Amino acid sequence: MRPSPGTGNDQEDARGLVLRFLDGDVRADPYPLLNRIREAGPVWLGDGVVVLSSHAHCEAALHAAEDAPASAAGCPVSAARLRSAVDRAFPADAVTGLAPLVRSLVDDRLDSVATRGRLEAVSDLAHPVPMAVLSHLLGLPAGDAQWLHRRASALAPALDLGQAPTGAETSGDSAARRAETELAAYLAEAVADRRRRTGGDDLLSRLIRADEHGERLNDAEAVSAGLLLLASGYETTSALVSGGILALLRAPHEIDTLRRDPAHARHLVEETLRLDPPLQVVRRRAGTDLDLPGTRVPRGTVTVLLLAAAHRDPAVAASPDVFAPGGASPHLAFGAGPHHCPGAPLARLIARTVLVRFAQRALAPRFALGSPSYRPTAALRGLRALWVDADGFAPRDLPWQPPAA
Ligand code: HEM
Repeated sequence: MRPSPGTGNDQEDARGLVLRFLDGDVRADPYPLLNRIREAGPVWLGDGVVVLSSHAHCEAALHAAEDAPASAAGCPVSAARLRSAVDRAFPADAVTGLAPLVRSLVDDRLDSVATRGRLEAVSDLAHPVPMAVLSHLLGLPAGDAQWLHRRASALAPALDLGQAPTGAETSGDSAARRAETELAAYLAEAVADRRRRTGGDDLLSRLIRADEHGERLNDAEAVSAGLLLLASGYETTSALVSGGILALLRAPHEIDTLRRDPAHARHLVEETLRLDPPLQVVRRRAGTDLDLPGTRVPRGTVTVLLLAAAHRDPAVAASPDVFAPGGASPHLAFGAGPHHCPGAPLARLIARTVLVRFAQRALAPRFALGSPSYRPTAALRGLRALWVDADGFAPRDLPWQPPAA
């Protein structure tokens, strides 16, 4: 068993690979680099930080106790308290009831591009649909979607690990802080509004209302919960939607399968999550000493978990780099253990619905202009734009079943 931190040439090389990945050198295809990092084993970035990338190491670290939760939004209020309030106010089974709304939002978007014959999957579908659903959940006016989109998008660099290895602050960090301040002020007004007119059924109203155990959030906590949902749920779901459409365009036979069998959307979405996960990296702080296969991580160490590398670990995937919907390869795209993503059912519903309706309504969809480009963030893998040509769009009144939960 090798104690921390590692030394020697192999570790030097591996550190170089990790920094190249985090610096964003390889946006178009980070996976060959991620595979090399995983093959190198745990990589120590100085004393207090270790990069883990095998499936077994990432899974064990996700399940382990944490010192100070470093969850997606880096929330100032007790993360555990927020998490339990979100779980109570937003139970997984509530998502099923959103299926007709999600379907109708997707169809509205496809209607709006039908006359053009070409769509830009990110701005026409992947951004507006998740934002409309999250706004609906939080009871925010539909007319604020563009304003919210700009701020919530600016939060994405905050998911990055710039500060962890280098300590440096980037311009993205300050834009993210500004966006967070503006969103917090906006949500504070929304919460004050819910206090004035009691009885609302949106998520913010439910968070500040006492539940059957008499528990409720105060105003600052409700604002933090709203921020957490927007920061954790918006760009990630958007990236899954655009990544799913990209996967379909790369494997057009899957579009035919999906038309014949809408339940196939489930496999397509899971395989997109495995092969091209929206959140490529998460960061934790070990709350106990971790005895991992082949390495020991002392309590207090920051663990940087390369989920995107773990998903292609040959130890758990038969053909790690091949897009094979319906295969049995597992993924950790929604995390695992105590911080497992509470929004996973919603993200899955949105992504499956978009893929089904896209396959059913876009006639002979294919790549249009150029190759897809990616945002510069490393932790969040999101397409910047994805142009799609089609021979037309079928009408929205086709028979339709909500994708199975
Ligand atoms: C494809 C879309 C999504 C992906 C890939 C994703 C991924 C993740 C991951 C990996 C974590 C665990 C982070 C960690 O362990 O530190 C997480 C946590 C979280 N996610 Fe998601 N998420 C998605 C969508 C959503 C949605 C739609 C919502 C809410 C509406 C949401 C809300 C949250 C929250 C609140 C947490 C923090 C949970 C905690 O710390 O206990 N996510 N997500």
